[in-house]
Amino acid sequence: MRLIFYLSGEFEELARIEAETFLNVFDGHTESTDNQIVVGECSEEISGYFNRFGLIHEVSEHLFSCTSLEELKGRFESIKIPDGKICVRVRNIGKRKVDSLRLERELGAVLWRRGAKISVSKPDHVIKVYFSGRIHTGVLLHETDRKQFLLRRPDLKPFFRPGAILPRIARSLVNIAGIKEGVVLDPMCGTGTILVEAGLMGLEFIGIEAYRVIAEGCGVNLQYYGIPKNVIIGDVKSMGLREESVDGIVTDFPYLQSTKSLGEIHELYSSAFAEFERVLKGNSRAVFLTNLDVDALVKKHFEIEYKLYQRLHKSLTRRVYVCRKIR
Ligand SMILES: C[S@@+](CC[C@H](N)C(=O)[O-])C[C@H]1O[C@@H](n2cnc3c(N)ncnc32)[C@H](O)[C@@H]1O
Repeated sequence: MRLIFYLSGEFEELARIEAETFLNVFDGHTESTDNQIVVGECSEEISGYFNRFGLIHEVSEHLFSCTSLEELKGRFESIKIPDGKICVRVRNIGKRKVDSLRLERELGAVLWRRGAKISVSKPDHVIKVYFSGRIHTGVLLHETDRKQFLLRRPDLKPFFRPGAILPRIARSLVNIAGIKEGVVLDPMCGTGTILVEAGLMGLEFIGIEAYRVIAEGCGVNLQYYGIPKNVIIGDVKSMGLREESVDGIVTDFPYLQSTKSLGEIHELYSSAFAEFERVLKGNSRAVFLTNLDVDALVKKHFEIEYKLYQRLHKSLTRRVYVCRKIR
């Protein structure tokens, strides 16, 4: 099936990698990209996994893409009309501004004249028109429930520590690890934001945390969401896991400042990457967040597929590394 992904604008680059990873995992590929839009082809099996989305707001079955309003209206004269009641919803993305209400009425009227049953309040099918760089039209298949992420905000969980990442970002990172079914490892799991999202997505997971009090707190959070307490107290530098035993690693390194010695920082990262390589299955991904540039150390073990920057505040820019085990 050919799909249009409508992406969050909050961290668009990350959302785009998330959508592209979904397409690859479901035997597909990206066909084109636009502002907050990815269009691609993949197998229908993906429909069972839409509820895993993190930074993907909506997905629609692609009908057509075009460049002008005239072409858009012309195409509505011949598109296949879905059975049942329908409505048209127009979304402006970025700088592109059309009078969406007026256009929704105009396009709805075209379909009505062609015999479609229209219902704005209770439609069976919604035809989405996204005004991005180009105009992309499709039948809405899924809208992500974004409220769920706010309800799982770190400070609303029973065990809270400052510095925990946001659930929607955690979910996007787990999706970028590209695991359809299998085990995800967070070897520095803190309060368990990544593990909670992985667990709610139906993935198996293992958490490792150096400090007992935090590992126990993480267990409390997992239990709160009815998820198994798969957390062990341990050290990312020497994990008690078997070789090639996990399908993906998603983690968030401690945000070390210059108060730590360079030797200590080097030791943490170089031992962690060697361990990541050892426990990961071949051709799998390690996705991690850090406040440091660690390209040289990563490259000893992984190919860096993407490196993104996210400025959080004046003294903290987060790096997102997406790496693949090559050996
Ligand atoms: C940035 S925090 C992770 C936050 C987590 N993503 C969350 O949402 O709560 C990094 C965590 O790594 C833990 N940590 C630090 N050094 C570690 C080590 N050598 N092995 C395992 N965990 C470690 C810290 O105690 C801290 O909880």
